Amino acid sequence: MNLEMVLFKYFYQNFINMTFEALKPQVEDIIKHNTTTVDERLLEICKLLEERITYYNWVGFYFKNGDKNELKLGPYVGEPTDHTIIPFGKGICGQVAVSNKNFVVPDVAAQDNYIACSITVKAEIVIPIFKNGENIGQIDIDSNTPDPFTEDDERFLEFVCTQVSTILM
Ligand code: SME
Repeated sequence: MNLEMVLFKYFYQNFINMTFEALKPQVEDIIKHNTTTVDERLLEICKLLEERITYYNWVGFYFKNGDKNELKLGPYVGEPTDHTIIPFGKGICGQVAVSNKNFVVPDVAAQDNYIACSITVKAEIVIPIFKNGENIGQIDIDSNTPDPFTEDDERFLEFVCTQVSTILM
């Protein structure tokens, strides 16, 4: 990497971090809107993230489907997906349902256990949502940019998931 690229990456990451900091109070405001339903608020969060972070191209929530070992699609923005139900263990989302850990995929083509939703997707990040210590769902983000996610995305999305868990049963 030459000096210009190093500088560009440095300033770009600073810009992204400033955006994350600016988004946090906006996420909190959406969460506090108790005149709207939980799903409406989750959709607002999806819209906010998809609009403000250029490399977030599909943003959605999956939740454990009752007492079944599968995930069910919740509110999302981006291209419609056929994958409204995902069995535990299947794809990136299904793996997070059992691992309880963040999953950052810089290159989806390098993953064997991956469910493709769109050919434009290059990378994915999935962060679990915990309620009383139990993994009850996740936020899933697809990017059309290769390898766009850093630890700052993980920290920011963990914040979003913690906020979201406060309004879930
Ligand atoms: N790619 C995901 C499936 C969900 S879509 O990205 C919306 C996976 O492998 O679990």
